[in-house]
Amino acid sequence: MPAQIIDGKRIAQQIRSGLAQKILEMLAQGKTRPGLAVVLVGDNPASKLYVSMKQKACKEVGIYSEEHRLPAEVTQDQLLALIDELNGDPKIHGILVQLPLPAHLDEEEVIMRIHPDKDVDGFNPVNVGKMCIGSRAYLPCTPAGIMKLIDTINYDPAGKKAVVIGRSNIVGKPIAQLLLQRDATVTICHSKTKDLVAECRQADILVAAVGQPEMVKGDWVKPGAVVIDVGINRRDGKTVGDVEFDSVNEVAGWITPVPGGVGPMTIAMLLTNTVVAADK
Ligand code: GUN
Repeated sequence: MPAQIIDGKRIAQQIRSGLAQKILEMLAQGKTRPGLAVVLVGDNPASKLYVSMKQKACKEVGIYSEEHRLPAEVTQDQLLALIDELNGDPKIHGILVQLPLPAHLDEEEVIMRIHPDKDVDGFNPVNVGKMCIGSRAYLPCTPAGIMKLIDTINYDPAGKKAVVIGRSNIVGKPIAQLLLQRDATVTICHSKTKDLVAECRQADILVAAVGQPEMVKGDWVKPGAVVIDVGINRRDGKTVGDVEFDSVNEVAGWITPVPGGVGPMTIAMLLTNTVVAADK
């Protein structure tokens, strides 16, 4: 029997409708319109696409958004000066610097410069630290979106074995933390993991966040598992995930499609964080 599809597009749309309503209520109460500043350095085509999707989503729900495009050769000081300006701008409640940055820029310093209260990406070490101790924080958008998907299917991670493939700061490490906080037993796998397939086969929850097109095959998956595919890759002119959908769909209990699974949830969580920042 094929897996049940976790329809991230539909769930994200519901969240966006709720946010649009919430913004109307905030405005009726005399509060300021939530504002997001998106900073894009250089012209990486994927980053440009993601930024335009984020801007469009802001507009749709009623968030004020502004885009700051900087040339690839911008200096660290120029970028930091822009962040300082946005930190002090009362129209702006959230600041997002699209990653990755060109190699000559110090990503860590840039992220640390964003005021933690405006860090709607949840990447500033203050928010990462708060997340790790289970304190209130802006959660990074993709992991927060994955947890929403798991909650939507009423799946309780407590006592389950979760395997995360990938150890990035944006997805792998934070999703492992969030699953741990929900009492899953979590393993993080990476390029040096000895027997990746054996690890994956034990997973009740399998999160693939490696950026390798269709790497996870049906025979890597425990029957009935929840499979979350974070990958967005191009193969033969098609967008595919890190999971080989057709073979995994035959074994898993639930699966997120690509596109239409995790991707829309990332944007919905960014909008949520921005509204929360404005409503403080
Ligand atoms: N690059 C890939 N994913 C993300 C994200 O969630 N936020 C930012 N700022 N950059 C990214």
